[in-house]
Amino acid sequence: MAGRIPKSFIDDLINRSDIVEVIERRITLKRAGKNYQACCPFHNEKTPSFSVSPDKQFYYCFGCGATGNVVSFVMEYDGLEFVDAIEDLAHAQGLEVPREAASQQPQRQWQHDLYSLMGQTAQFYQQQLKQPKHRDRVVGYLKARGVSGEIARDYGLGFAPDEWHSLQALFGHDQSINKSLVDCGMLIEKDNNRYDRFRDRLMFPIRDRRGRVIAFGGRVIDKGEPKYLNSPETEIFHKGQELYGLYEMRQFQRKNDWALVVEGYMDVVALAQFGLRNAVATLGTATSSTHIQQLFRVCPKIIFCFDGDRAGRDAALRALNHALPLVRDNRDIRVMFLPDGEDPDTQVRQIGAEAFTEQALAAPSIFEFLLDYLRNQVDMNTFEGPGQLANLAKPFLALIQDPIHHERFLQQLALQVELSEERLKQLLVMPNDTKQAPEKETDSKSKSLPTSHASLPNISQLTPIRRAITLLLQRPTLVTEVPPCDWLRELNQPGNEILCEMIEILQTNPNITVGAIIEHWRGTSVQPHLVKLASEELLTPEVGQSQELADIMQRLNQAYKTQRFEQLQARSQRGPLSAEEKREYQSLLLELK
Ligand code: CTP
Ligand code: MN
Repeated sequence: MAGRIPKSFIDDLINRSDIVEVIERRITLKRAGKNYQACCPFHNEKTPSFSVSPDKQFYYCFGCGATGNVVSFVMEYDGLEFVDAIEDLAHAQGLEVPREAASQQPQRQWQHDLYSLMGQTAQFYQQQLKQPKHRDRVVGYLKARGVSGEIARDYGLGFAPDEWHSLQALFGHDQSINKSLVDCGMLIEKDNNRYDRFRDRLMFPIRDRRGRVIAFGGRVIDKGEPKYLNSPETEIFHKGQELYGLYEMRQFQRKNDWALVVEGYMDVVALAQFGLRNAVATLGTATSSTHIQQLFRVCPKIIFCFDGDRAGRDAALRALNHALPLVRDNRDIRVMFLPDGEDPDTQVRQIGAEAFTEQALAAPSIFEFLLDYLRNQVDMNTFEGPGQLANLAKPFLALIQDPIHHERFLQQLALQVELSEERLKQLLVMPNDTKQAPEKETDSKSKSLPTSHASLPNISQLTPIRRAITLLLQRPTLVTEVPPCDWLRELNQPGNEILCEMIEILQTNPNITVGAIIEHWRGTSVQPHLVKLASEELLTPEVGQSQELADIMQRLNQAYKTQRFEQLQARSQRGPLSAEEKREYQSLLLELK
């Protein structure tokens, strides 16, 4: 595996990238005083409440609270994971992303080669589709299945000719290229022989979220076994993590209100043909948490589409295990079942896009589905039925992390089993289960600030530490006025570690922007608070700010001395102080008088 990206590179990259430029490449910004404005790309609105600050290098939406730096923007807007967003920004600056020691440079190079080989192969297959000798048969097959040239192009469909060595003919016989083709699953190696894995198949390129071809699915054109052949797991393809059609969906339309999860390649393509460009398919694997998280990055509602038979219901239940923990207040997961014997491809052809959409949007939520499914497992007309239902529901209840959904599900369950909600809670929710949805952070950084926006105090009521943080965020150069303060780490006041870390960051990068500073708290609950503080109006005029910071630091130092004095006093009651402790105690005594 590649090593970590050095923090210093990320700082530098954020400082080099201009957030205005990066955002402007994606949406239109209008100048408004010192800042830029637009209608927020993260929620629907008619009047602009999205603001970008070139000085601070971050954005903030007064409507929906979306906020962050240039990296967050690329992640959210393009639906990329952190590392991909960094690669993207680096690419725009003409930079290579370095990796820390563990990575071997050759591996990165070699990975780039795999991507490029896959891309060239996909192009080759697309050309083959149009070759006169294949056209009638392959394009004919697509036509017969109702797939147009436009959709074939958008999904990059191609054809692997019925030959054993078409790729070697394409790439030549260079040993290292051939080896790479084996590594990315395109050639099979057997008894010193290498030959094409995909022969005489309709080819579906599988693209990652950045649009790079990482694998293929190949379907037989007529009859044959196996019907689908897929790329194996490779260095660049992990099938449990990829969704077929996600890139294409985002290419067609950046913002989608919902996405449909189906089973097959042809389902995605057929739905697209009918104008439903928001379908994605898991690649013959069960739906994973990664899949769901990726989709929630790009839209708030996910509708799973399953066969209506028993197997479909069981598959839905399995998906539920990963889905339940990920439902939050503004996220919605629904489960749609098709009539027996139909798949989305045949169904949309039968009833049309409009009816299909209507059914999808009217599908029951996963909570309704779950309750229904469980109720069907027991006989509610017997004495034991309701009790069995409650017990069956218990492990699922524990998976629902969102407190409101948890409560609501409990309510519904209580109605079903005819117990009061209070009583059911006592019976079902054991002390261990009531632990609030874990904010999965053991990170010390996240401890000291409150975790909800609402609890942020008004700027004029900030504690000295928050006030100092705010001053530094707004005018990073003030750090030069901060005297050495090793003691700050020991100070028993909320936020001291954050302030400490911020001072260190600023001292090592004097020209850093706010956007780059907040990057250091990515993924912690602290980050939104820092952004909020950074965007507050400072009440102190600029000339007074350095004095204010100096005063705060002095007050904090005073508080530390008192704390230390009290510690030593308490210590002395348990036994004699060492000579050094005594000296410290005495000098503190004099100072604090
Ligand atoms: N699949 C697979 N290998 C197989 C069969 C299926 O990987 N031998 C995966 C493919 O991703 C396929 C999905 O399971 O798209 C659904 O399979 P199936 O329902 O059999 O095919 P359809 O998608 O309906 O394809 P078609 O309509 O072309 O028959
Ligand atoms: Mn099908």
